[in-house]
Amino acid sequence: MGKVMWKKEEGLGSQFPYHIYLIGFMGSGKTAVSTQLAKLCSMEAIEMDRMISEREGMGIPEIFDRYGEGYFRSLETKLLEELQGKGHAVVSCGGGTPMRKENVERMKQSGKIVLLSAEPETIYARVKDSHDRPLLEGNMNIPYISGLMEQRRERYEKAADLILHTDGKGIKEICMEITQRLHKMG
Ligand code: S3P
Repeated sequence: MGKVMWKKEEGLGSQFPYHIYLIGFMGSGKTAVSTQLAKLCSMEAIEMDRMISEREGMGIPEIFDRYGEGYFRSLETKLLEELQGKGHAVVSCGGGTPMRKENVERMKQSGKIVLLSAEPETIYARVKDSHDRPLLEGNMNIPYISGLMEQRRERYEKAADLILHTDGKGIKEICMEITQRLHKMG
């Protein structure tokens, strides 16, 4: 996932009249894709984890540690509420955001949901050296990742308006595929 150079004819300025929500497992590339997709479409990029972390004045692991996962989940829901009716952005969701039904309802009401999928081995390779994800702390191995992915698969797939497999693809290719498929959906 290297440096991306955009050409005009590749869709710069082609805004979508709704939020584009990127969902998917930790390490599926949501953040990197959202940044480039937002540039490509001249839309704002919103990274939910980052916004929550900035507002709380601490990292996600510290929020989990101090206040627990439930508190973090309520912050995600609150942030999604705030996004309703506010412009059109590319929103990179936390990996657990679609696990709450009410979150999915909000996303559906205000935009399109794009699921980025990747194999557990790919995910592992991307996240193995990070300590930013409390759910993987002490569980940093392929069987655990694979198990949690399976637990979430149905919810993820049910929520998604479109599913994009990212293994072996570069960011630019992924972004182009998203814009083309969204345009087709009208
Ligand atoms: C989580 C994913 C993380 C972050 C938190 C919980 C999850 O976001 O929201 O650690 O439950 O899958 P990323 O998917 O951006 O890593």
